[in-house]
Amino acid sequence: MLILGLQGSPRKGGNTDTLLASFLEKAGQAGAAVKTIQVARAGIVPCKGCGYCETHGTCVIADDPMSTEIFGLLREADLVVAATPVFFYGISAQLKVLIDRCQTLWSRKYVYKLKDPQAATRKGVLFSVAASEGRQLFDGIHLTTKYFFDAIDAQFSHALVYRGVESKGAIRHHEGLATDIDETLQKTVLPFVTRKRVLFISPTGACRAPMAAAMAQDRFGDCIRTGFAALRPASELYSPMVRSMHRVAVDMGYRKPQSIELALSAATPDLTIAIGDGVEKIRVPGLKTVQWSLPEPVSSDDAAMDRLRLAMESQVDTLMALL
Ligand SMILES: Cc1cc2nc3c(=O)[nH]c(=O)nc-3n(C[C@H](O)[C@H](O)[C@H](O)COP(=O)(O)O)c2cc1C
Repeated sequence: MLILGLQGSPRKGGNTDTLLASFLEKAGQAGAAVKTIQVARAGIVPCKGCGYCETHGTCVIADDPMSTEIFGLLREADLVVAATPVFFYGISAQLKVLIDRCQTLWSRKYVYKLKDPQAATRKGVLFSVAASEGRQLFDGIHLTTKYFFDAIDAQFSHALVYRGVESKGAIRHHEGLATDIDETLQKTVLPFVTRKRVLFISPTGACRAPMAAAMAQDRFGDCIRTGFAALRPASELYSPMVRSMHRVAVDMGYRKPQSIELALSAATPDLTIAIGDGVEKIRVPGLKTVQWSLPEPVSSDDAAMDRLRLAMESQVDTLMALL
């Protein structure tokens, strides 16, 4: 399980940072992989409002950390924590820059009608702090976060918000903080960290392994967490396969082939499935590996890719019996 923390305050070691770090530390101890983005220092370029994502499905700003890294992390994350101080009754400008760029994911969902394979299980939590005691302090932040989580295909689980927190570190003394963090862990981490991990491997990780991983995640995501890796990772997914998955509305965007070493450094799989052509068996030292024989499509045309997809669907149907 990956938890992505978006630390939205420009104040390093401040209340938002402290609150998020306290939660992530406990989540890490519970077995989750955790990653924090210090949003104020990430160098994210603001949305231009140009409409490119609505006609292309990707962002025109292709070379900043949002496009090169953060979209991928938002796709990979099982839990996204949006953490922000209240600035003039709203979210910090720094976090808002990241949120606005998610118009690309909004477009993929609502213009292109694509569904992320983790959509059914991904959750979102809001952490926020404010100096005063105002009744409506968090209303604006709640609304923005609700629509942000919807765009990134995360179900808004709940919010931890704290009033009367001003000086650096004051959040540590807030009554009930430890209990709130424990309850958040119970709801959003513990049920997911125990899911069985299934790793799909194919020669380049560009076609069959990501296809199987996405299908299995979409169908059985409440019981398993899938990943995919390659013997020789390609630089990107195979576009005929991506188009075939898009024809059945499964979004393969912002996913990339990775090496087996990298995949294993994130988590040890309970089951590894090597997908090959049935002639040469893929073996991974130290891992018990089940072989699935599904030949590479003979051509890249739509009909051949769709036949592979149908064959893969039947194979994925048999997955749960292996666990
Ligand atoms: C630009 C700015 C605007 C703020 N606006 C509000 C506000 O509208 N209401 C409020 O209660 N606190 C406001 N605060 C106070 C912060 O929300 C509060 O000090 C918080 O604990 C800061 O969190 P941090 O340490 O994570 O940055 C503001 C602070 C700054 C710097």
